[in-house]
Amino acid sequence: MADIINNKGEEWLYSEKVKEHFLNPKNFLAEEPKEGDFDAEGEAGNFACGDIMKAWIKVEPGTERIKDFKWRTWGCASAIAATSMFSEMVLENDGMTVEDALKITPQDIIARLSGLPPQKVHCSVLADQAFKDAVKNYRKKSK
Ligand code: FES
Repeated sequence: MADIINNKGEEWLYSEKVKEHFLNPKNFLAEEPKEGDFDAEGEAGNFACGDIMKAWIKVEPGTERIKDFKWRTWGCASAIAATSMFSEMVLENDGMTVEDALKITPQDIIARLSGLPPQKVHCSVLADQAFKDAVKNYRKKSK
């Protein structure tokens, strides 16, 4: 764990996993994708801090396996690390099914990150919520 002292003098501990994903985020999109690059887009905002997350998914018809998941955020280091980890989780083993990916909780993401400081737990919710919004839009489109 790495120690960070914030401007209130509180000590926050970040795991090596969090640092790894923050410094080298996986499946991050530097620019907005072009129309048609993905099957659906989702967005989530964090009431606690005002930060925003956008997510894009590609889903294999028939199997409903997630073939691509990309994201962008205007959020903090913890949001970046949590969403990077979430993207790895949904894409591992040839892609989770949408159904299984919807069961991932922020606590699952935090466990895979070897923890987050308690004050930053709300940041891990953005990945999950933006993904759920993308799935909702995907289901609307494929009706
Ligand atoms: S402080 Fe806003 S997402 Fe972390």
